[in-house]
Amino acid sequence: MKKIGVLTSGGDSPGMNAAIRSTVRTAIYERIEVIGIYEGFQGLIDGNFINLNARSVSGILQRGGTFLQSTRCKDFMTKKGRDQAFIQVQKAGIEGLVIIGGDGSFTGAHIFGQENEMPFVGVPGTIDNDLFGTDFTIGFDTALNTVVDAVDKIKDTAASHNRLFFIEVMGRDTGYLALSSGIASGAEDVLIPEEITDVEELVHNLVEAKRNKKNSSIVIVAEGDDAGGAMRIAKKVNKLYSEFDTRVTILGHIQRGGKPSASDRILASRLGNSAVNALLNGKSGIMVGLKNGEIKETPIFDSINKQKNLKTHLLELIVPLSV
Ligand code: F6P
Repeated sequence: MKKIGVLTSGGDSPGMNAAIRSTVRTAIYERIEVIGIYEGFQGLIDGNFINLNARSVSGILQRGGTFLQSTRCKDFMTKKGRDQAFIQVQKAGIEGLVIIGGDGSFTGAHIFGQENEMPFVGVPGTIDNDLFGTDFTIGFDTALNTVVDAVDKIKDTAASHNRLFFIEVMGRDTGYLALSSGIASGAEDVLIPEEITDVEELVHNLVEAKRNKKNSSIVIVAEGDDAGGAMRIAKKVNKLYSEFDTRVTILGHIQRGGKPSASDRILASRLGNSAVNALLNGKSGIMVGLKNGEIKETPIFDSINKQKNLKTHLLELIVPLSV
C-alpha cells in the first residue's frame, strides 16, 4: 500500500482532529502518502482532496471539530454516488481509506466496501458512544465533561430557586451520554430511549424528593427518550403535578464542540495509529476500538448491527443515590 485517504463523516466529535493527526503521522512514518478528503463522503464523490504531510496536521491535536470538515451525505446513499466516489478514489491512486465517524458513516462505508475493491478501516468518532466493539468512542468523554459542567451550573441556580429542571442532552437513539452525565452530576432521574418512561413514577419520585427537603431536582433527558424530549416530558409532568416550578434547558450542539479532553486525545491517537497499521496488515471492513484498555478489531457490520449493552449498573445507581 502506497497511498491512503482519510475522512471524517457524520456528526463531528471532539478528538476527530487528533485521530486525523495520528492517521497522517503514522502513515508518513510508514512511508505512505496521505490524501485528506474534505467534507466526508461528499468530498469523496466530488474529488475534494488535499495532499497531507506531517506538518499539515501540526497544531490540531487540541482543536475541537474536524479541519477536514464533515457531512451527512445523501448522495453516498445512492449507488450512483458511491460509483462516482470509487472513480475519484481510483483516479487519485488511493489504495485504502480511514473513515472516522459513527454508525451512519460506517453503514455507508460497509456498502461501499462490498460494492468495490477498496480496503477501509473505521475509527469510532461520535459523542453518542453507541458503537458495538469499543468501550468508548472519540468525543464521548469531552461531551460528557461539557454536559456535567453545564449541569453543575444549572444546579446552582436551581437550588437558589427551589426549581425542577429538565435538561436535554444529545442521544437520538441512545442514552449513554444521558446516563453517564446523570451519575456524574447527581441527577434525580435520567430518561433514555432504551427504557420506557413511566411519567407517573417519575412524578412520584420528584414529589418524594421535594418532601425529603431537596432544594432542587434535575432530570437528564436524552433527546431520543420515548416521552419526546425535555420540553414534552416537562409538560406531561406539570399536567400531573402543577406545583413544581419547572424549567427546561436544551444543551444542544455545545455538546459537540470544545477542545478534546486528554482521554479523547489519547484514544484518538491510539485508534488512528491502529487503523493505519490494520490497513498495512491487509485488514479491511473492520472498526478499531478499545476494549478493556486494549485495541480490538470488530467487523464493521457488527459494530453497527450488534447492540452495545447499556451500562445497567449505572442505571441501577440513579434511584439509591438520589434519596
Ligand atoms: O453526533 C450524534 C448526534 O449527536 C446525535 O445524538 C444527535 O441526534 C445528532 O448528532 C444531531 O446532529 P446534527 O444536528 O448534526 O444532525
